[in-house]
Amino acid sequence: MDGKLTLAFLGCGGIARAHWRGIRRVATDIAVTAVIDSDRNAVAAFAERTNAKAFQSLDQALAEGDFDAVDIMLPHDLHEEAALKCLDAGKHVVLEKPIAPDLATARRILDAGTSAEGVFMVAEQAQYWPDVLRAKELIDDGAIGDVLTARACFYDPLPTIDPEAPPWRFSLARAGGGISIDGGAHWIRPLRIMLGEIEEVVATTSRHIDAMEGESIAHALMRFDSGVTATFDALLHTGVVAPTEDFRITGTTGELVLEHGREGRLRLFTDAAPEGETVLESFPGKVDSYGAELADFASAVLNGTALAAAPDYAEGELRTALAMYRSVATRRWEKVWGR
Ligand SMILES: NC(=O)c1ccc[n+]([C@@H]2O[C@H](COP(=O)([O-])OP(=O)(O)OC[C@H]3O[C@@H](n4cnc5c(N)ncnc54)[C@H](O)[C@@H]3O)[C@@H](O)[C@H]2O)c1
Repeated sequence: MDGKLTLAFLGCGGIARAHWRGIRRVATDIAVTAVIDSDRNAVAAFAERTNAKAFQSLDQALAEGDFDAVDIMLPHDLHEEAALKCLDAGKHVVLEKPIAPDLATARRILDAGTSAEGVFMVAEQAQYWPDVLRAKELIDDGAIGDVLTARACFYDPLPTIDPEAPPWRFSLARAGGGISIDGGAHWIRPLRIMLGEIEEVVATTSRHIDAMEGESIAHALMRFDSGVTATFDALLHTGVVAPTEDFRITGTTGELVLEHGREGRLRLFTDAAPEGETVLESFPGKVDSYGAELADFASAVLNGTALAAAPDYAEGELRTALAMYRSVATRRWEKVWGR
Protein backbone atom coordinates (compact mmCIF):
# COMPACT_ATOMS: atom_id res chain seq x y z
CA MET A 1 0.00 0.00 0.00
CA ASP A 2 2.66 2.54 -1.17
CA GLY A 3 4.75 2.13 2.00
CA LYS A 4 1.80 3.10 4.18
CA LEU A 5 0.78 1.38 7.39
CA THR A 6 -2.37 -0.64 6.75
CA LEU A 7 -4.76 -0.24 9.65
CA ALA A 8 -8.06 -1.74 10.78
CA PHE A 9 -10.49 0.34 12.82
CA LEU A 10 -11.99 -1.86 15.54
CA GLY A 11 -15.02 0.07 16.79
CA CYS A 12 -16.63 2.63 14.49
CA GLY A 13 -18.27 4.93 17.06
CA GLY A 14 -17.61 8.42 18.33
CA ILE A 15 -13.83 8.44 18.66
CA ALA A 16 -13.34 6.63 15.35
CA ARG A 17 -14.59 9.79 13.62
CA ALA A 18 -11.82 11.84 15.28
CA HIS A 19 -9.20 9.20 14.38
CA TRP A 20 -10.35 9.15 10.76
CA ARG A 21 -10.16 12.95 10.57
CA GLY A 22 -6.66 12.77 12.09
CA ILE A 23 -5.52 10.23 9.50
CA ARG A 24 -6.78 12.37 6.62
CA ARG A 25 -5.31 15.59 7.96
CA VAL A 26 -2.07 14.51 9.66
CA ALA A 27 -1.30 10.77 9.79
CA THR A 28 -1.22 10.41 6.03
CA ASP A 29 1.19 7.45 6.27
CA ILE A 30 -1.80 5.34 7.31
CA ALA A 31 -4.22 3.57 4.97
CA VAL A 32 -7.39 2.29 6.63
CA THR A 33 -8.03 -1.00 4.85
CA ALA A 34 -10.58 -2.60 7.20
CA VAL A 35 -13.34 -1.37 9.48
CA ILE A 36 -14.87 -3.62 12.12
CA ASP A 37 -17.97 -3.07 14.21
CA SER A 38 -20.65 -5.44 15.48
CA ASP A 39 -23.24 -2.78 14.59
CA ARG A 40 -24.18 -3.20 10.94
CA ASN A 41 -25.09 0.45 10.42
CA ALA A 42 -21.96 1.79 12.14
CA VAL A 43 -19.64 -0.38 10.07
CA ALA A 44 -21.48 0.35 6.84
CA ALA A 45 -21.19 4.09 7.43
CA PHE A 46 -17.45 3.79 8.07
CA ALA A 47 -16.86 1.51 5.09
CA GLU A 48 -18.46 4.15 2.91
CA ARG A 49 -16.47 6.95 4.52
CA THR A 50 -13.09 5.18 4.33
CA ASN A 51 -13.48 2.87 1.34
CA ALA A 52 -12.23 0.07 3.57
CA LYS A 53 -13.54 -3.50 3.73
CA ALA A 54 -16.25 -3.98 6.35
CA PHE A 55 -16.32 -6.78 8.95
CA GLN A 56 -18.80 -7.39 11.74
CA SER A 57 -16.40 -9.41 13.89
CA LEU A 58 -12.73 -9.18 14.82
CA ASP A 59 -12.23 -12.92 14.26
CA GLN A 60 -13.46 -12.67 10.69
CA ALA A 61 -11.33 -9.59 10.05
CA LEU A 62 -8.20 -11.29 11.44
CA ALA A 63 -8.88 -14.33 9.25
CA GLU A 64 -9.74 -12.52 6.04
CA GLY A 65 -8.65 -8.88 6.29
CA ASP A 66 -5.53 -7.24 4.89
CA PHE A 67 -3.95 -5.04 7.56
CA ASP A 68 -0.81 -4.89 9.72
CA ALA A 69 -2.18 -2.87 12.62
CA VAL A 70 -5.40 -2.45 14.60
CA ASP A 71 -6.77 0.71 16.22
CA ILE A 72 -8.94 -0.52 19.11
CA MET A 73 -11.77 1.91 19.90
CA LEU A 74 -14.17 -0.28 21.89
CA PRO A 75 -15.96 0.01 25.25
CA HIS A 76 -13.48 -0.41 28.12
CA ASP A 77 -14.61 -3.91 29.15
CA LEU A 78 -13.82 -5.20 25.64
CA HIS A 79 -10.26 -3.85 25.50
CA GLU A 80 -8.51 -6.92 26.94
CA GLU A 81 -9.97 -9.60 24.71
CA ALA A 82 -9.50 -7.49 21.60
CA ALA A 83 -5.95 -6.36 22.43
CA LEU A 84 -4.77 -9.86 23.29
CA LYS A 85 -6.29 -11.34 20.13
CA CYS A 86 -4.72 -8.70 17.91
CA LEU A 87 -1.30 -8.98 19.58
CA ASP A 88 -1.47 -12.81 19.35
CA ALA A 89 -2.22 -12.45 15.66
CA GLY A 90 1.01 -10.44 15.27
CA LYS A 91 -0.67 -7.08 14.66
CA HIS A 92 0.67 -3.74 15.80
CA VAL A 93 -1.89 -2.29 18.20
CA VAL A 94 -2.97 1.18 19.24
CA LEU A 95 -5.51 1.03 22.07
CA GLU A 96 -7.72 3.94 23.13
CA LYS A 97 -7.50 5.02 26.77
CA PRO A 98 -8.17 3.98 29.47
CA ILE A 99 -6.15 0.77 29.14
CA ALA A 100 -8.91 -1.15 30.96
CA PRO A 101 -11.59 -0.64 33.63
CA ASP A 102 -9.35 -2.03 36.40
CA LEU A 103 -5.66 -2.35 37.21
CA ALA A 104 -5.28 -6.14 37.00
CA THR A 105 -6.71 -6.18 33.49
CA ALA A 106 -4.60 -3.19 32.49
CA ARG A 107 -1.50 -5.03 33.72
CA ARG A 108 -2.30 -8.10 31.63
CA ILE A 109 -2.73 -5.92 28.53
CA LEU A 110 0.49 -3.99 29.18
CA ASP A 111 2.42 -7.23 29.75
CA ALA A 112 1.09 -8.67 26.50
CA GLY A 113 2.08 -5.45 24.74
CA THR A 114 5.61 -5.65 26.17
CA SER A 115 6.06 -9.28 25.08
CA ALA A 116 4.74 -8.64 21.58
CA GLU A 117 7.16 -8.13 18.72
CA GLY A 118 5.13 -5.35 17.17
CA VAL A 119 4.41 -1.84 18.36
CA PHE A 120 1.89 -1.44 21.18
CA MET A 121 0.66 2.01 22.10
CA VAL A 122 -2.02 3.45 24.39
CA ALA A 123 -3.64 6.43 22.66
CA GLU A 124 -3.79 9.63 24.75
CA GLN A 125 -4.05 12.68 22.54
CA ALA A 126 -3.26 15.10 25.38
CA GLN A 127 0.34 13.87 25.09
CA TYR A 128 0.49 15.99 21.90
CA TRP A 129 -1.36 19.13 22.98
CA PRO A 130 0.93 22.02 21.97
CA ASP A 131 -0.14 24.32 24.82
CA VAL A 132 0.69 21.65 27.40
CA LEU A 133 4.07 20.88 25.84
CA ARG A 134 4.96 24.58 25.60
CA ALA A 135 3.82 25.18 29.19
CA LYS A 136 6.05 22.31 30.32
CA GLU A 137 9.04 23.95 28.56
CA LEU A 138 8.24 27.32 30.14
CA ILE A 139 7.93 25.77 33.60
CA ASP A 140 11.25 23.94 33.14
CA ASP A 141 12.85 27.20 31.97
CA GLY A 142 11.71 28.94 35.15
CA ALA A 143 9.26 31.32 33.41
CA ILE A 144 6.97 31.35 36.48
CA GLY A 145 9.63 30.65 39.12
CA ASP A 146 9.01 27.63 41.33
CA VAL A 147 5.63 25.99 40.89
CA LEU A 148 3.45 26.63 43.94
CA THR A 149 0.12 25.14 42.94
CA ALA A 150 -2.08 24.30 39.97
CA ARG A 151 -5.64 23.62 39.05
CA ALA A 152 -7.33 21.61 36.34
CA CYS A 153 -10.93 22.08 35.30
CA PHE A 154 -12.58 19.51 33.05
CA TYR A 155 -16.12 20.54 32.15
CA ASP A 156 -17.58 18.35 29.44
CA PRO A 157 -21.08 18.63 27.96
CA LEU A 158 -23.34 15.61 28.35
CA PRO A 159 -24.07 14.33 24.85
CA THR A 160 -27.66 13.66 23.86
CA ILE A 161 -28.62 10.25 25.19
CA ASP A 162 -31.59 7.94 24.96
CA PRO A 163 -32.62 7.36 28.62
CA GLU A 164 -34.22 4.07 27.55
CA ALA A 165 -30.88 2.82 26.20
CA PRO A 166 -28.10 4.46 28.19
CA PRO A 167 -24.62 4.26 26.61
CA TRP A 168 -22.15 1.60 27.78
CA ARG A 169 -20.03 4.27 29.49
CA PHE A 170 -22.88 4.85 31.98
CA SER A 171 -22.39 1.29 33.29
CA LEU A 172 -19.81 0.96 36.08
CA ALA A 173 -19.08 -2.64 35.10
CA ARG A 174 -18.37 -1.65 31.50
CA ALA A 175 -16.56 1.66 31.97
CA GLY A 176 -14.86 1.08 35.35
CA GLY A 177 -16.06 4.44 36.69
CA GLY A 178 -17.47 7.75 35.56
CA ILE A 179 -16.01 11.01 34.30
CA SER A 180 -12.63 10.64 36.06
CA ILE A 181 -11.56 7.35 34.46
CA ASP A 182 -12.95 8.41 31.08
CA GLY A 183 -12.52 11.98 29.83
CA GLY A 184 -10.74 12.95 33.05
CA ALA A 185 -7.68 11.14 31.70
CA HIS A 186 -7.14 13.99 29.23
CA TRP A 187 -6.75 16.42 32.13
CA ILE A 188 -4.71 14.11 34.36
CA ARG A 189 -2.12 13.43 31.62
CA PRO A 190 -1.27 17.14 31.15
CA LEU A 191 -0.98 17.59 34.92
CA ARG A 192 1.55 14.72 34.95
CA ILE A 193 3.41 16.14 31.93
CA MET A 194 3.65 19.61 33.50
CA LEU A 195 4.06 18.78 37.20
CA GLY A 196 5.51 15.26 37.36
CA GLU A 197 4.15 12.12 38.96
CA ILE A 198 1.15 12.16 41.28
CA GLU A 199 1.90 10.60 44.65
CA GLU A 200 -1.52 10.63 46.33
CA VAL A 201 -5.06 11.92 45.99
CA VAL A 202 -8.08 12.67 48.12
CA ALA A 203 -11.41 12.97 46.35
CA THR A 204 -15.15 13.41 46.53
CA THR A 205 -17.51 12.44 43.74
CA SER A 206 -21.23 12.65 43.11
CA ARG A 207 -23.84 11.83 40.51
CA HIS A 208 -26.46 14.06 38.95
CA ILE A 209 -27.40 12.05 35.87
CA ASP A 210 -29.92 9.34 36.77
CA ALA A 211 -28.98 6.87 34.06
CA MET A 212 -25.26 7.12 34.81
CA GLU A 213 -23.92 4.73 37.47
CA GLY A 214 -20.48 6.33 37.71
CA GLU A 215 -19.67 9.82 38.95
CA SER A 216 -20.62 12.81 36.85
CA ILE A 217 -19.00 15.28 39.28
CA ALA A 218 -15.54 14.84 40.79
CA HIS A 219 -13.26 16.96 42.94
CA ALA A 220 -9.78 15.87 43.89
CA LEU A 221 -6.71 17.24 45.57
CA MET A 222 -3.59 15.76 44.05
CA ARG A 223 -0.20 15.80 45.74
CA PHE A 224 2.73 15.39 43.38
CA ASP A 225 6.11 13.79 44.13
CA SER A 226 7.50 17.35 44.14
CA GLY A 227 5.25 18.21 47.11
CA VAL A 228 3.10 20.57 44.99
CA THR A 229 -0.66 20.13 45.34
CA ALA A 230 -3.18 20.71 42.55
CA THR A 231 -6.95 20.63 42.37
CA PHE A 232 -8.86 18.65 39.77
CA ASP A 233 -12.52 19.45 39.10
CA ALA A 234 -14.60 17.48 36.63
CA LEU A 235 -18.21 17.91 35.64
CA LEU A 236 -20.42 16.41 32.97
CA HIS A 237 -22.68 19.39 32.52
CA THR A 238 -26.27 19.25 31.44
CA GLY A 239 -26.81 23.01 31.25
CA VAL A 240 -24.96 26.09 30.11
CA VAL A 241 -21.65 26.78 31.87
CA ALA A 242 -19.48 29.87 31.77
CA PRO A 243 -16.02 29.74 30.18
CA THR A 244 -13.14 28.68 32.42
CA GLU A 245 -9.55 27.79 31.75
CA ASP A 246 -8.47 24.15 31.44
CA PHE A 247 -5.35 24.57 33.58
CA ARG A 248 -3.80 27.27 35.72
CA ILE A 249 -0.23 26.79 36.97
CA THR A 250 0.90 29.28 39.58
CA GLY A 251 4.55 29.86 40.38
CA THR A 252 6.52 32.12 42.71
CA THR A 253 6.99 34.77 39.98
CA GLY A 254 4.15 34.26 37.51
CA GLU A 255 1.30 32.21 36.23
CA LEU A 256 0.45 30.16 33.16
CA VAL A 257 -3.14 29.83 31.94
CA LEU A 258 -4.10 27.20 29.39
CA GLU A 259 -7.38 28.53 28.10
CA HIS A 260 -10.27 26.22 27.41
CA GLY A 261 -11.01 24.64 24.10
CA ARG A 262 -9.30 23.25 21.11
CA GLU A 263 -8.45 26.78 19.99
CA GLY A 264 -7.33 27.64 23.51
CA ARG A 265 -4.43 30.03 23.95
CA LEU A 266 -1.52 29.66 26.34
CA ARG A 267 -1.13 32.87 28.36
CA LEU A 268 1.82 33.84 30.54
CA PHE A 269 1.47 36.38 33.36
CA THR A 270 4.69 37.82 34.81
CA ASP A 271 6.00 41.13 36.19
CA ALA A 272 7.03 41.98 32.63
CA ALA A 273 3.52 41.24 31.34
CA PRO A 274 1.10 41.66 34.25
CA GLU A 275 -1.89 41.73 31.86
CA GLY A 276 -0.67 38.50 30.35
CA GLU A 277 0.98 37.70 27.04
CA THR A 278 -0.17 35.10 24.55
CA VAL A 279 2.66 32.62 24.24
CA LEU A 280 0.86 30.24 21.92
CA GLU A 281 -2.32 30.16 19.90
CA SER A 282 -2.70 26.41 20.02
CA PHE A 283 -5.15 26.19 17.11
CA PRO A 284 -4.95 24.05 15.02
CA GLY A 285 -2.44 21.86 16.85
CA LYS A 286 -4.87 20.79 19.56
CA VAL A 287 -7.56 19.86 17.06
CA ASP A 288 -5.04 17.71 15.23
CA SER A 289 -3.78 15.89 18.30
CA TYR A 290 -5.55 12.67 17.29
CA GLY A 291 -3.70 12.86 13.99
CA ALA A 292 -0.43 13.54 15.81
CA GLU A 293 -0.88 10.48 18.03
CA LEU A 294 -1.65 8.25 15.04
CA ALA A 295 1.31 9.69 13.12
CA ASP A 296 3.48 8.83 16.14
CA PHE A 297 2.14 5.25 16.05
CA ALA A 298 2.69 4.94 12.28
CA SER A 299 6.24 6.26 12.55
CA ALA A 300 7.05 3.79 15.34
CA VAL A 301 5.91 0.95 13.07
CA LEU A 302 7.29 2.21 9.76
CA ASN A 303 10.51 3.90 10.92
CA GLY A 304 11.21 2.34 14.32
CA THR A 305 11.00 5.71 16.13
CA ALA A 306 10.26 5.84 19.86
CA LEU A 307 6.70 6.71 20.91
CA ALA A 308 6.21 10.07 22.64
CA ALA A 309 5.01 8.11 25.69
CA ALA A 310 5.59 4.43 26.44
CA PRO A 311 2.34 2.47 26.97
CA ASP A 312 3.10 1.96 30.68
CA TYR A 313 2.90 5.72 31.18
CA ALA A 314 -0.88 5.52 30.61
CA GLU A 315 -1.16 3.49 33.80
CA GLY A 316 -0.77 6.81 35.63
CA GLU A 317 -4.15 8.22 34.57
CA LEU A 318 -5.90 4.93 35.33
CA ARG A 319 -4.20 4.64 38.72
CA THR A 320 -5.08 8.23 39.58
CA ALA A 321 -8.78 7.71 38.81
CA LEU A 322 -8.85 4.41 40.71
CA ALA A 323 -7.08 6.02 43.69
CA MET A 324 -9.75 8.75 43.63
CA TYR A 325 -12.45 6.07 43.80
CA ARG A 326 -10.69 4.37 46.73
CA SER A 327 -10.43 7.73 48.45
CA VAL A 328 -14.17 8.29 48.08
CA ALA A 329 -14.74 4.96 49.85
CA THR A 330 -12.12 5.40 52.60
CA ARG A 331 -12.48 9.21 52.94
CA ARG A 332 -8.69 9.37 53.16
CA TRP A 333 -5.67 10.22 51.02
CA GLU A 334 -4.86 7.26 48.77
CA LYS A 335 -1.50 6.48 47.16
CA VAL A 336 -1.58 6.35 43.37
CA TRP A 337 1.33 3.93 42.94
CA GLY A 338 2.51 0.83 44.78
CA ARG A 339 -0.59 -1.37 44.83
N1 LIG B 1 -9.39 10.08 23.33
C1 LIG B 1 -10.59 10.61 23.39
O1 LIG B 1 -10.78 11.82 23.34
C2 LIG B 1 -11.77 9.69 23.50
C3 LIG B 1 -13.07 10.18 23.33
C4 LIG B 1 -14.14 9.26 23.34
C5 LIG B 1 -13.86 7.92 23.57
N2 LIG B 1 -12.59 7.49 23.76
C6 LIG B 1 -12.30 6.08 24.02
O2 LIG B 1 -12.54 5.35 22.80
C7 LIG B 1 -13.11 4.08 23.10
C8 LIG B 1 -14.45 3.97 22.40
O3 LIG B 1 -15.28 5.02 22.83
P1 LIG B 1 -16.41 5.66 21.87
O4 LIG B 1 -16.85 6.91 22.54
O5 LIG B 1 -15.94 5.73 20.47
O6 LIG B 1 -17.55 4.56 22.02
P2 LIG B 1 -18.80 4.35 21.05
O7 LIG B 1 -19.82 3.67 21.85
O8 LIG B 1 -19.15 5.63 20.37
O9 LIG B 1 -18.22 3.35 19.94
C9 LIG B 1 -17.87 2.01 20.25
C10 LIG B 1 -18.18 1.17 19.03
O10 LIG B 1 -17.78 -0.18 19.32
C11 LIG B 1 -18.75 -1.04 18.74
N3 LIG B 1 -18.68 -2.35 19.39
C12 LIG B 1 -19.16 -2.70 20.61
N4 LIG B 1 -18.88 -3.99 20.87
C13 LIG B 1 -18.21 -4.46 19.79
C14 LIG B 1 -17.64 -5.73 19.46
N5 LIG B 1 -17.67 -6.75 20.31
N6 LIG B 1 -17.03 -5.86 18.25
C15 LIG B 1 -16.98 -4.82 17.38
N7 LIG B 1 -17.51 -3.62 17.65
C16 LIG B 1 -18.10 -3.42 18.84
C17 LIG B 1 -20.08 -0.32 18.93
O11 LIG B 1 -21.06 -0.80 18.04
C18 LIG B 1 -19.69 1.12 18.67
O12 LIG B 1 -19.88 1.51 17.32
C19 LIG B 1 -13.16 4.00 24.65
O13 LIG B 1 -11.97 3.42 25.12
C20 LIG B 1 -13.24 5.46 25.05
O14 LIG B 1 -12.78 5.74 26.37
C21 LIG B 1 -11.54 8.34 23.71
